[in-house]
Order: sequence, then structure tokens, then C-alpha cells
Amino acid sequence: MDLQTRIQLNNGVQMPVLGLGVFLSKDGEETYNAVRWALEAGYRHIDTAAVYGNEESVGRAIRDSGIPREELFVTTKLWNTRIRAHEEEQAFAESLRKLQMDYVDLYLIHWPVREEQGYVRAWSKMEAFNKQGRARAIGVSNYHVHHLQDLLAVADVPPALNQVECHPELTQVELSDFCREKGIAFEPWSPLGRGKLLENETLKDIAKAHGKTTAQVILRWGLQRGFVNIPKSVHKERIEQNAQLFDFALSQGEMERIFALNKNERVGSDPETFNF
Ligand code: A2P
Repeated sequence: MDLQTRIQLNNGVQMPVLGLGVFLSKDGEETYNAVRWALEAGYRHIDTAAVYGNEESVGRAIRDSGIPREELFVTTKLWNTRIRAHEEEQAFAESLRKLQMDYVDLYLIHWPVREEQGYVRAWSKMEAFNKQGRARAIGVSNYHVHHLQDLLAVADVPPALNQVECHPELTQVELSDFCREKGIAFEPWSPLGRGKLLENETLKDIAKAHGKTTAQVILRWGLQRGFVNIPKSVHKERIEQNAQLFDFALSQGEMERIFALNKNERVGSDPETFNF
């Protein structure tokens, strides 16, 4: 396994196991530089969202890199208000325009909008985008098992992936097992717990044993679980560090020590109660 390793999604599309996340990366120079550094470091996968407000910078950095589009994997996401307003087509067209692309590799419903069962209703629009070739794969984000069950009951195209909060204090064993069983790839967001896990003593101890950083240990744990990882950083040396995950392996015992840190504790909103 290396930085170019890809997993195969349930529709055959290949997705790099490591990408750069740009949540909370500021539009303009900050996001532009982060994407350029990541591409220079060998990343070929970028994860953004309409609501992050930085799709333009992502698109510009990709274009300026000169890397052929087909070598890259780009994800963006459909925002909640656009689902409630039945504006899925306009929202997707805007994202593609900002990214300067005629397709994305993966388009996700960002949150399971409850109103009018938006988390199920919007899926037919997603399927149309997929059939039109404007989204090579389609998936969801922040879906619990019951949201996925409702969706799977009516979907023509099953979701390729579920992106949810997941890190050593929220290990998501039940949800990730369900996804595996259904052929849905699993992608943690905030793998570092927004940075708060970096000082955890168990993780520091394991990191020391491997001559690695706590961030690398957490990301490696995700990789060994078979997940796609999208760490966010706007710092060049961290972006490079977060990709150096392929020259060491955690033992079964170390994996279990990390699982034991679970507290079912979130750093972000709960998909059952989010209010945005
Ligand atoms: P920054 O962008 O300033 O580098 P999460 O992915 O869990 O949301 O965590 C992201 C946070 O962790 C960001 O604040 C990011 O800050 C920081 N971060 C990312 N990679 C590293 C790293 N290798 N070492 C320390 N902090 C990191």
C-alpha cells in the first residue's frame, strides 16, 4: 500500500485511500496552497464541499498544477439548504462551475436532511447526476444505520460511500460494520478529533514506539480498518507528514489499544439532532 493505492467503490470507480480534506481551510491563498502542496507531495484526492466556501480555490489549484484531470479524485457535497429548497440541480451546477470541472469523482449528500425525508428524496437527483456522468460515484455523509436502511430500500444506485465523524474516541464500529456488509466504503471526517487526540498518552506511546507522530498513528489505524482517510491541514509539513503512513504498521495489540479509547464522544454535530 502507498499514497497511490486505491480502493474500488461498489460501482467499480477507483478511489485513492488518502486525500486532503479542506474543511475550515480559508478560501483563497490558504486553500490554494494546501491543495498545491498536497498535489506536489503526491496526493491525488481532494475532499471539499459547497458549504466550505473554497471550491473555487480547490479548482484553481488543481488547474494550475497541470495534473491531468483523470489522475485526480475530487469530492464535493450537496448542502442541506439546497435540498430543503429543492435546488439540487442548481447547487451541483454551481459546484462544478466553481471547481472548473465538468464532472466530480464523488458527490455526497452532506447531511441527512429530515424535512420531507430529504435524505431519501434527494437521492433520485443524485442518481440522475451519476447517470449523466457528472458524478462518477454518489454517496452520503453523516448517515446513521437507519438513514442508510431507508435509502437502500428505495435506491436504484446504492450509495458508494458514507463519510462520518470517526476517530479513536468515536470508533463507529457498528456503523462501519454495517457499511462493509452493504458494500458502502467508509470515510472518517475529523480523524484527529479536530486535533484534540494529538496529546492522548496512549497514542503518544504507540507513536514513540514507531518513531511516528500521533497524527500518523491515528491515520494508520484508519487505513488498517480499510477506511479512506482525508486529514485536513493547511501546513505544508503536516500535509506531507499525513501522507507518510505506508512505511510502518500497527500490530493487532496496538489496534486494540486504540479501539479501547472509544468514548462514543463527538467533536461535531450529531446527525440525529443537527440544526443547520
Ligand atoms: P492545521 O490545518 O492548522 O494543520 P481533524 O482532521 O480531526 O478535523 O483535525 C484537523 C486539525 O488537526 C486541524 O486543526 C489541523 O490543523 C490539525 N492537524 C492536521 N494534521 C496535523 C498533524 N500532522 N499534526 C498536528 N496537527 C495536525
